[in-house]
Amino acid sequence: MTVVYQVYPRSFQDSDGDGVGDLAGIRSRLDHLVWLGVDALWLSPIYPSPMADFGYDVSDYTDVDPVFGDLAAFDALVREAHDRGLRLLMDVVPCHTSIEHPWFTEHPDWYIWRDEPNNWLSAFGGSAWAPLDGRYYLHSFYPEQADLDWRNPEVVAAMQDGLRFWLDRGADGYRIDAIDRLLKDPHLRDDPPATEPFGLPLSEAEAKLARIYSGNAPDTGRALAKIREACGDAFLVGEVYLPSSRWAPYLEHFDAAFAFELLHSPWEAGALRAAVERSTRAPGAAWVLSNHDFGRLSTRFGDENARAAALLLLMLPGPAFLYQGDEIGQGEGPPGERRFDRAGRDRHRHPMQWDGSPSGGFTTGEAWLPVVDAPERNVADQRDDPGSMLTLVRELVALRRELPDGFELLDAADGVLAFRRGGHTVAINTTAEERPAPVRGEARIQTAPGALSRGLLAPHAGAVAMG
Ligand code: GLC
Repeated sequence: MTVVYQVYPRSFQDSDGDGVGDLAGIRSRLDHLVWLGVDALWLSPIYPSPMADFGYDVSDYTDVDPVFGDLAAFDALVREAHDRGLRLLMDVVPCHTSIEHPWFTEHPDWYIWRDEPNNWLSAFGGSAWAPLDGRYYLHSFYPEQADLDWRNPEVVAAMQDGLRFWLDRGADGYRIDAIDRLLKDPHLRDDPPATEPFGLPLSEAEAKLARIYSGNAPDTGRALAKIREACGDAFLVGEVYLPSSRWAPYLEHFDAAFAFELLHSPWEAGALRAAVERSTRAPGAAWVLSNHDFGRLSTRFGDENARAAALLLLMLPGPAFLYQGDEIGQGEGPPGERRFDRAGRDRHRHPMQWDGSPSGGFTTGEAWLPVVDAPERNVADQRDDPGSMLTLVRELVALRRELPDGFELLDAADGVLAFRRGGHTVAINTTAEERPAPVRGEARIQTAPGALSRGLLAPHAGAVAMG
């Protein structure tokens, strides 16, 4: 698995004019992924869901939400993806179900209950416990997402059935959601005050507690083994929201873990280098710099750095995950936008911009979230432009395919991140001034014409040189 393209199904392509993307729409755009040269697509959740967390609140693990289509539409998508040599990863949400999943009323003992809340906090703010019928159930995320008890063998068996279901239908693996929250302390003890930083951004309230009991329990590996058991040798990448120093149990069972230290690094060479160095101490890092939770390359690192960020993402060793729209440097909605997601993530999820029409070619109806800036940035225009971000991303994906293994961080001038990669030197200038780059040869790929000239990198530029 080298480059995986993240499809956020609601916002990729609408085929029926209801303003929400769907599976038939994704199928109609597979040729874009083939043209781009990626190996696989990862679908954010398509299961039936009340959409309190836009699909991450699953009410049936073995069906498709009608807004996206049905099982026949899924089968057609897998078939056509495979026909084109693309693999397809599903997104599984093992930690919690929707409170509207029939299990929640039929099998309350599959969930985690307490007579009184302890001090655990929800990732979205406030107590992680919600009252129901004189007791409290645990929700590590929204109250509409009740945490499953993975120490209950019936839960394990039911989830294994769900995992097998999609693999039997042709899926090639899973991105596994919020996996560090899967197992908690069996005694549900209070988290103690934090004595050292967690190592990744948390809310102010969460950062005050050491999350030693509310997740990542010492026996997590046993549950991960059950996931692996159901999945055979399918590709599994974990959304492990932990610093890389704590990945070991996850990588014992999964192929890769998202390197959130790099995702959260400021765009500064020293910090980026430190994050890459930590995340590559052991094999297993999956690289991601943008997604539906944290935002787009152009907003996270600044428009001026978006191309260099794409170059970094695609030149690092190990699987790289590219979020839909980032190949054209797509923009975001307004900060703080909360039309749908209470946690304020709508702005990272606006529709894909395929052409310069007002709807961006996304829908014939009214898009569920408005199209941001299709006339300025869209696939159709950038495909024909040799200097576009899309052309750059495509070239990087192609080069990446032919790069042999080998990775070594290099010393470089202040503000320059540099590494050797498969017979090439990669150098990125994170500053607004010209900087020397430790390269000898001519640029094979550069973020803009002339970005690397006589050993000097232009401001915000990146380049890949032979040798
Ligand atoms: C993951 C998903 C995010 C979701 C959360 C709870 O972090 O990426 O979108 O809200 O899990 O399932």
